[in-house]
Amino acid sequence: MKSTIAHLKSCFETALVNAFGPDLAGTDPILTPASNPKFGDYQANVAMSLAKRLKEKPRAIAEKIVQKLDVSEICQPPTIAGPGFINLSLKTDFLEAQLQAIQPDPRLGVQSTSDPKRVIVDYPSPNIAKEMHVGHLRPAIIGDCIARILEFQGHTVQRISHVGDWGTPFGMLIAYLREAYPEALKTTETLDLGELSTFYREAKKRFDQNEAFREAARLAVVKLQAGDEETLRAWKIVCQLSSRAYQVIYDLLGIGSFIEKGESFYNHLLPDVITDLKQQGLLVEDEGAQCVFLEGFTNKEGNPLPLIIQKSNGGYNYATTDLAAIRYRVKEEKAQRVIYPVGAEQTNHFAQIFQVGKRAGWIADKVEFVHTPFGLVLGEGGKKLKTRSGEAIPLKELLEEAIAHASADLEARLKEEDRQETEAFKSQVTKVIGISAVKYADLSQNRTSNYIFSYDKMLALQGNTAPYMLYAYVRVQGISRKGEIDFEQLSGEQPIHLEEDTELTLAKHLLQLDETLTEVETDLLPNRLCQYLFELSQKFNQFYDRCSVLQAEEPQRTSRLVLCDLTARTLKLGLSLLGIPVLERM
Ligand code: ARG
Repeated sequence: MKSTIAHLKSCFETALVNAFGPDLAGTDPILTPASNPKFGDYQANVAMSLAKRLKEKPRAIAEKIVQKLDVSEICQPPTIAGPGFINLSLKTDFLEAQLQAIQPDPRLGVQSTSDPKRVIVDYPSPNIAKEMHVGHLRPAIIGDCIARILEFQGHTVQRISHVGDWGTPFGMLIAYLREAYPEALKTTETLDLGELSTFYREAKKRFDQNEAFREAARLAVVKLQAGDEETLRAWKIVCQLSSRAYQVIYDLLGIGSFIEKGESFYNHLLPDVITDLKQQGLLVEDEGAQCVFLEGFTNKEGNPLPLIIQKSNGGYNYATTDLAAIRYRVKEEKAQRVIYPVGAEQTNHFAQIFQVGKRAGWIADKVEFVHTPFGLVLGEGGKKLKTRSGEAIPLKELLEEAIAHASADLEARLKEEDRQETEAFKSQVTKVIGISAVKYADLSQNRTSNYIFSYDKMLALQGNTAPYMLYAYVRVQGISRKGEIDFEQLSGEQPIHLEEDTELTLAKHLLQLDETLTEVETDLLPNRLCQYLFELSQKFNQFYDRCSVLQAEEPQRTSRLVLCDLTARTLKLGLSLLGIPVLERM
């Protein structure tokens, strides 16, 4: 089936061509949901956008379009407003037919893309020579959500973790491994090196306190970079130790599995970056270092800023590795869209490497490299989120605390409702609520802003929170279950009747999932999906307040129950795309 937007778009295409000639084929009618019901359901802004090109007043253009626009099957006669907006109000029988058509569809009317791409999402990409802390939360949650949505839209998605697994920070860990666990290097078996956090902390302590140890750490870096075998073995052991500890957290978060292709992976490809840039004539020697002078980036004196590709001592850096990754992703992995959910503080870094990638001819016009920046996670009062002793809060603690809070809330609720539940039920429910609350609190913000991490807010049963959404699902699902209808048996044969205003409003919203996901696919802003789901549950509540469902007469009863079922399934699908599983009871 075709979505509402797709229907409207093809009507506009025909009208534009008929009114202004074949040159206008493919013009975007710029349809947006109307901000106010008095403008109908959708507004087309195309007349304004064409004014310059057609050298006519937008209002006159709008009139010509409307003359040729045949939307009679979908809408009431279109009207023109203001400088040239075309207002469209959907017809009830069109909405009814659309709902009937999506009823048996597991994708709920969301069409797969007509232009599937090979996409890479670069996440969660932590630096592993450190304990995982709150700073690692956003790339994991946002990256996972973006990957899920693009996959659902029909793209081929590769999740690649560009882990920081190379370079100076490893010297300290290698030196500590040698000192504290010499036997680890003599056996091929995996030794128990204890908790990763303890390992890191002890290594750091030694480093801060002992000059000889610092020297050993420096030496280890040199040997690592020279490819010394024993040092490489030690490095591998440290990486595995990190990986295992990080995996525990990813499992807890329920983050889709990704491939680890860390900085070390690109080591052997770094010289090619130099050769290639040299051949393109982009490389300039500046104070002994090999640089590319950037366009649009200047230093304090107003001179072009150099991006260092190879240091004067021959060493490479973060940018070099990322350039090698760009080259590899285009040439070997044949990626057409590469997305980097990384903090906003790296905005310049990405702008710079993308620029070099383009100028070197690696990133062709049709290939899109995007940095999707995000803000910080702050503590109450807008300060950095830290433990009492001033360190970044380990991610594991943060998540366990969220589950503990969810558990306290559940116990209180059970007591109030005088309910008995098994331990298994309680632990499953509190884990889902706790983790989902953290994820949803993150995803429901515009990702570019900072947000304040508050257990109380994210776990509230009211407002745009995970518990509210999970509860909405349980409730809607409960209503449709009480109807005792086998929805699968209906297989799209059930006519839908829409009468009440609240019923129509709900129906229209249900039919907007497709366009919401298309928006997220373009803008990579998951909060749009959260907002859509939140509004869906509100519109459902208004509908359920005004319209009787279970007590209604047929054919109204079944028709309304289908609306309930569609609402529940939309919530479930939408939440799953955010990486949040639903509960049948809570
Ligand atoms: N490891 C980096 C950090 O923690 C993030 C890497 C992001 N991905 C990339 N291709 N640069 O800051």
